[in-house]
Amino acid sequence: MSSERNLPNILITGTPGTGKSTLAELAAQDAGLSYINVGTLVKERLLHEGYDEDYQSYILDDDKVIDEMEEQMSKGGNIVDFHSCELFPERWFDLILVLRTDNTILYDRLVARNYPQNKITENIECEIFQVVLEEARESYAPEKVVELQSNSVDDMDSNASRIEKWIEDWKARKQ
Ligand SMILES: Nc1ncnc2c1ncn2[C@@H]1O[C@H](COP(=O)(O)OP(=O)(O)OP(=O)(O)O)[C@@H](O)[C@H]1O
Ligand SMILES: [Mg+2]
Repeated sequence: MSSERNLPNILITGTPGTGKSTLAELAAQDAGLSYINVGTLVKERLLHEGYDEDYQSYILDDDKVIDEMEEQMSKGGNIVDFHSCELFPERWFDLILVLRTDNTILYDRLVARNYPQNKITENIECEIFQVVLEEARESYAPEKVVELQSNSVDDMDSNASRIEKWIEDWKARKQ
């Protein structure tokens, strides 16, 4: 429960390539919160059931991921970065930010990463059909879900400032 925490937990989610890691690292640094990249955690702590060669991604073991993160999440003060959001317990997060990027911009970012064509197509479709936004709206209270544009460096800076202000407001409400 948020009332048991002295610092908030924020989830930054969105289609791969929308800029989650870039923004989450920046915001965590600015606010002095911990940054958790779930993809990296899964790889390092082997919280998966194998690797999908076609999509070049790990098949998550949700229960292992949640067990691994539970203690740190219950303490608060985390900015979590992952391209999906329905696996996490709703109680963990005070704010869910869904990053959005225009298709042509996202396409260029994915090409620049040398992603296989099937993965590029899948991710572009994911963004067009706002899959992650719908998932967030179904998994969390609507007032906690906020969509943020992530097309430019200016967007990134304004998003980071917005997060910093939101954290300050959350702390002020706690006192
Ligand atoms: N707001 C932005 N404006 C311009 N470029 C950006 C922005 N955010 C991120 N980028 C660039 O886009 C690329 C993808 O960003 P990033 O790795 O942060 O995405 P991600 O959402 O974490 O992707 P993944 O889900 O695959 O980890 C990087 O090259 C990054 O520098
Ligand atoms: Mg990332």
